[in-house]
Amino acid sequence: MLLQSIVIASAFLASGSIAWNKDVHQQIGHSAEHFLTPTTKSILYQILEPKYNNSIGLAAAWADDYAHTPEGAFSYQWHWIDSADEPPHYCNVYYHRDCSEGGCVVSAIANQTQILRNCVHRVKSGDLVDGEDLQCSYALKWVVHFLGDIAQPLHASGVAAGGNGIKVIFANQTTELHAVWDAWIVYADANVTSFPNTTIQPFFKHLVSRIQEDDFSIPPFEWIACSDPSRPLECALSWARDSNALNCDYVFAHAINDIDLATSGYATGAFPIVELQMSKAILRMATWLNRLVAGDHDREAGVVLQTEPGSLLGLSSKE
Ligand SMILES: *[C@@H]1O[C@H](CO)[C@@H](O)[C@H](O)[C@H]1NC(C)=O
Ligand SMILES: *[C@@H]1O[C@H](CO)[C@@H](O)[C@H](O)[C@H]1NC(C)=O
Ligand SMILES: *[C@@H]1O[C@H](CO)[C@@H](O)[C@H](O)[C@H]1NC(C)=O
Ligand SMILES: *[C@@H]1O[C@H](CO)[C@@H](O)[C@H](O)[C@H]1NC(C)=O
Ligand SMILES: *[C@@H]1O[C@H](CO)[C@@H](O)[C@H](O)[C@H]1NC(C)=O
Repeated sequence: MLLQSIVIASAFLASGSIAWNKDVHQQIGHSAEHFLTPTTKSILYQILEPKYNNSIGLAAAWADDYAHTPEGAFSYQWHWIDSADEPPHYCNVYYHRDCSEGGCVVSAIANQTQILRNCVHRVKSGDLVDGEDLQCSYALKWVVHFLGDIAQPLHASGVAAGGNGIKVIFANQTTELHAVWDAWIVYADANVTSFPNTTIQPFFKHLVSRIQEDDFSIPPFEWIACSDPSRPLECALSWARDSNALNCDYVFAHAINDIDLATSGYATGAFPIVELQMSKAILRMATWLNRLVAGDHDREAGVVLQTEPGSLLGLSSKE
């Protein structure tokens, strides 16, 4: 499976994407910044290398570039988990069954979160400034990237390397099912051909407002039911399962062959799904980082877990 993943994904790599497209990752990062507390930002900005201009969003796509370098090739498989299930009949993710030797998105989130926790501690004690510890900056960039990836249903699927091996048609172009979920559905939903990388774009600004207003079929507090960075493996697995279920519910439950997915109804049916999944990534990311910074001694300060959506992060609801 892994060999197959590498072969197929390497072919795919030529077209330049293995994850929510880079600009989508950057938008998810920029959106998450809206939910970070000032304390979280001040700590994270000491962890991040200065070249990212204090921007989590700008740093959110680094992991894809790094995975494609010889030095970072070991991290390539950390971007997904190859569930051995059979959608649309049977969906599930089991850590011991599905996480490959060498790691997967679930183990990578757990590992890098633990590394990042120590980095946060070092900033607090004045022992780390100006992004001078690369391992710490990498940990932050990986966490920010993987919390995006794990919300993409096909990053929690072992079917044909997460759909990379499934040829489909989208807007008259031959592409792969994986790419359709990484980008083409999002672009079609936002009616764009790409997103800017340094500023939040209106489509994502609107998602941020909808999160603040609790304007989703599934309320935000449920997305972060597990978001305790001291239990990272458990939470990451729960997010993988949440995404994986969508492979049975939608991704593989509708016709995908020999039709144009842009116009068949498949894409429009998927719009609310990608909006929800990207919004989950945004809020989970911010909650995770706020709680990591709040730490054990000051637990309440950065906590965003509230059952009242209006009081998420102290933002007042418009309702
Ligand atoms: C960071 O900010 C500087 C100064 O505003 C700018 O010249 C540079 O292009 C920015 N870097 C990125 C990656 O946006
Ligand atoms: C955890 O991360 C470190 C640093 O990136 C890496 O060297 C190590 O192999 C990782 N361990 C696992 C189990 O992923
Ligand atoms: C696909 O091609 C057909 C025929 O060439 C054209 O009419 C249609 O507008 C194209 N659709 C898209 C989404 O580009
Ligand atoms: C999508 O964008 C195009 C070009 O910017 C514009 O002409 C069109 O009206 C837009 N469609 C929708 C549904 O907003
Ligand atoms: C951002 O976009 C600009 C212009 O397209 C590009 O030159 C730059 O490399 C991008 N930066 C990142 C971090 O993706």
